[in-house]
Amino acid sequence: MAILVTGAAGFIGAHVARALLARGERVIGIDNLNAYYDPALKHARLAQLVGDAPGFTFVPGDIADAATLAALGDITTIVHLAAQAGVRHSIDAPRDYGHSNLTGQLEILELARTRRVAHLVYASSSSVYGDTSALPFSAEARADRPVSLYAASKKAGELMAESYAHLYRIPMTGLRFFTVYGPWGRPDMALWRFTTRVLAGEPLPLYNGGAMRRDFSFIDDIVAGVLAALDRPPADDGAEKPGGSLGPHAVYNLGNDRPEQLGDLVALIGAACGREPRIDLLPMQPGDVTATWADIGPARRDLGYDPKTPLAIGVPAFVAWYRDYSSV
Ligand SMILES: NC(=O)c1ccc[n+]([C@@H]2O[C@H](COP(=O)([O-])OP(=O)(O)OC[C@H]3O[C@@H](n4cnc5c(N)ncnc54)[C@H](O)[C@@H]3O)[C@@H](O)[C@H]2O)c1
Repeated sequence: MAILVTGAAGFIGAHVARALLARGERVIGIDNLNAYYDPALKHARLAQLVGDAPGFTFVPGDIADAATLAALGDITTIVHLAAQAGVRHSIDAPRDYGHSNLTGQLEILELARTRRVAHLVYASSSSVYGDTSALPFSAEARADRPVSLYAASKKAGELMAESYAHLYRIPMTGLRFFTVYGPWGRPDMALWRFTTRVLAGEPLPLYNGGAMRRDFSFIDDIVAGVLAALDRPPADDGAEKPGGSLGPHAVYNLGNDRPEQLGDLVALIGAACGREPRIDLLPMQPGDVTATWADIGPARRDLGYDPKTPLAIGVPAFVAWYRDYSSV
């Protein structure tokens, strides 16, 4: 029996798979290794996992393909992290989101139903909150005005999960991640792009004139939160769960409870690179939100989630990894 990790070649998926292997679990990882960003990075993450422990099996394949999922070996639980990520790409390539985040989510729910898994943990996103001034974001708040198709697809994924938890009584936990960063991170995200530019002496584009705040979450804290959630399936006891479900379905924010100015991020990157960043102030981009801030009270209470890593520790850790990986 194994734990299925979808998106196992992705940033968060590879870290989660590694942590599960480290505690002696058997893991089946699936990923279609698509070219949204350089697949060489996905292969490099996988190479580490394959080298890490004998308990890892990798299946190259698409989660939207029912036959591929039906052919998987025995699984007890699912950590579903595969998705088409990225807010801005959803403006250029909306169908990628329909394929992976809607059809893919449905096929994972069908897999959970047909295999009667003990728990399905799936990734949602802080983007479901939209551009709201009600801070911090609480999972009890309404989140039905998405400002990007990515956000809409993640909210749709939560609603699809709710219907399956209700109909088939499968325990499910949705995790709304807040700007996750760290070693082996994603090249489309600000920390990677800014670090590349600082090291190349190029100006950094700061949108909305730099007046952006993000609740940045270090990958190790997020992995600890995912494993804690996996170990605590919500009970089917009729009590209202975080997020409002009366079924066995809980939704938590996993963030850092500490929104930071993008300008502070840039200063830390500059210090870690030993270079003075050059800044290019630009207008707000469509689909973006000005601030994110996670209310992590319910995750602290129910999961023992306790993020420990401030940007001042996490950014130098990323930059050191990046320079090693990119040889710059
Ligand atoms: N990183 C963040 O800051 C963040 C924030 C909020 C939510 N999330 C969510 O967390 C999850 C993991 O994100 P990540 O940062 O690791 O992204 P990622 O892009 O690095 O990982 C996702 C992986 O899924 C794979 N994938 C995509 N579509 C697939 C499909 N149809 N079939 C099989 N594999 C497929 C990709 O190849 C990729 O390796 C995603 O669901 C994402 O929406 C991430």
